[in-house]
Amino acid sequence: DENYKYRHLNQNQVPVKRLPDALIIGVKKCGTRALLEFLRLHPDVRAAGSEVHFFDKFYHKGFEWYRDRMPPTLEGQITMEKTPSYWVTRSAPKRVYAMNPSVKLLAVVRDPVTRAISDYTQSASKRPSLPRFEDLALVNSSAGWGGSPSVVDASWPPVRLGVYARPLRRWLRRFPRERLLLISGERLVADPAAEMARVQEFLGLKRVITEKHFYFNSTKGFPCLLKSESRSTPHCLGKTKGRSHPYIDPRILKRLRDFYRPFNERFYQLAGMNFGWP
Ligand code: A3P
Repeated sequence: DENYKYRHLNQNQVPVKRLPDALIIGVKKCGTRALLEFLRLHPDVRAAGSEVHFFDKFYHKGFEWYRDRMPPTLEGQITMEKTPSYWVTRSAPKRVYAMNPSVKLLAVVRDPVTRAISDYTQSASKRPSLPRFEDLALVNSSAGWGGSPSVVDASWPPVRLGVYARPLRRWLRRFPRERLLLISGERLVADPAAEMARVQEFLGLKRVITEKHFYFNSTKGFPCLLKSESRSTPHCLGKTKGRSHPYIDPRILKRLRDFYRPFNERFYQLAGMNFGWP
């Protein structure tokens, strides 16, 4: 019977470190930590806790170094890692393919306007003297954005990273569409169990992560976990996840929405999915 089969397997198996079967490749500030922490609820998933940065920073160290960063797993368990900068690393698709051409890729995406504010809020938390978002998001903003023809600064990283179409095309030149799961950052907050059902299906996992794992913490304003492998009591992600955002001038928000609209359309086309961003 099943029990016997697993007892038998466990007795004869020693956990070993393996290269990842699946990677969370991005996108920065879209909910990548939440996705990883939710996936870790699954007994058949083992993941490196911190970002490994192998395919961008440490590729020269080689696959053995990379394998050594991974948690030990039993046969049948999925090894994972998340490093959001892989999404925009030009050499990453080729390098990932060289490691394992049938690796499964996951990327969380979110309304690029909210993503930009989230990115800015993270920088501002480390550097309180940072100019206002409004002043960084536009070029020529010293001329005044109250009607003068200032434009969105597409080269400012918080703005640039929200243009999802180009990196997606790069990944799809190397991997078939069905090997990359795009996850809605908004849905991961509004209905984590539904989004995690898609994720488990994609990874070929039994649906273990369900509604029962989550509760909505109204103080935090986000879904939190009732329990996890490491903690048996309810807990939320750390305080660097789910920060409160500054008030942004609505005229700037409109400029940004107008700026992103054509890029979002292109992204929806490539993705074959409409994320419904305003
Ligand atoms: P904010 O802190 O700006 O709200 P990443 O982990 O990729 O850096 O993404 C961080 C973002 O994840 C947070 O941005 C938050 O909006 C989002 N998020 C999604 N689910 C969350 C959850 N359950 N708890 C906290 N933040 C969550």
